[in-house]
Amino acid sequence: MRMLALYSIKGGVGKTASAVNLAAEAARAGHRVLLWDLDPQAATSFYLRVKPRIRGGVGKLVKGKASFDKVIRATQLENLDLLPAALASREMDELLAKRGNSHLRQVLKPVRDDYDLVILDCPPSLSHLSENIFSSVDALLVPVVPTVLSLRTLEQLETFLDDHDIPCPLWPFITLADRRRTLHREVMAGMQERWPLMLSHAIPSASVVERMGLERAPLQLFAPRSVAARAYAALWRELAQRLG
Ligand SMILES: Nc1ncnc2c1ncn2[C@@H]1O[C@H](COP(=O)(O)OP(=O)(O)OP(=O)(O)O)[C@@H](O)[C@H]1O
Ligand SMILES: [Mg+2]
Repeated sequence: MRMLALYSIKGGVGKTASAVNLAAEAARAGHRVLLWDLDPQAATSFYLRVKPRIRGGVGKLVKGKASFDKVIRATQLENLDLLPAALASREMDELLAKRGNSHLRQVLKPVRDDYDLVILDCPPSLSHLSENIFSSVDALLVPVVPTVLSLRTLEQLETFLDDHDIPCPLWPFITLADRRRTLHREVMAGMQERWPLMLSHAIPSASVVERMGLERAPLQLFAPRSVAARAYAALWRELAQRLG
């Protein structure tokens, strides 16, 4: 069971849009995928039409006493299940503070044979939850809008991981890219050298991605031929190759 997190300290960079669309692409490719909505804003749960509620409560889940049959929900896509958000995620953070490293991975032990891939959609913060994410996943997928400030947060994240000796690989990729903008082109051109693990497929800025909120579905279900849907499909293929 591989685990990837869509993570950035920065808000509004496309973590949720990417988590939903990459999970949908992985499911379409035949992988058994679990998407875990770790953000109390519950946007992922909203996109997939699932109520943000953990049956039995977050406490039971973190303590490993939850009944996964009830907590994990099916979605409108074959092969894609969702572990919904809990609005009480402050509680989650406190509960995780008392647990060891990789506890999020431990929590999923009872279902580890049911899924090939787990994708985490994370809130934009540095917390006990995020430290637990770093120690649980195989890599952090970091969406980067091609601007100077967005690159700066990526560097801050790298520094944090280095300072805390956390050996979690950073796999940045570009989102909300506008190739007509000179600054975007310049930033993107400089990135590959600085970030050798950067993924090469960029997600363009496209209004169809914003429509996900109205359609409440991944792009492949309502705009499969759009440039953005194709970009997510290509990004998934690149990821699949890297995961081996
Ligand atoms: N490629 C894109 N093109 C156009 N709009 C996009 C794109 N990706 C995301 N958006 C829009 O930008 C906003 C933020 O995206 P998203 O919610 O995925 O970011 P996020 O990093 O998860 O935010 P948060 O930090 O609040 O969780 C949303 O309104 C979304 O529809
Ligand atoms: Mg989000």
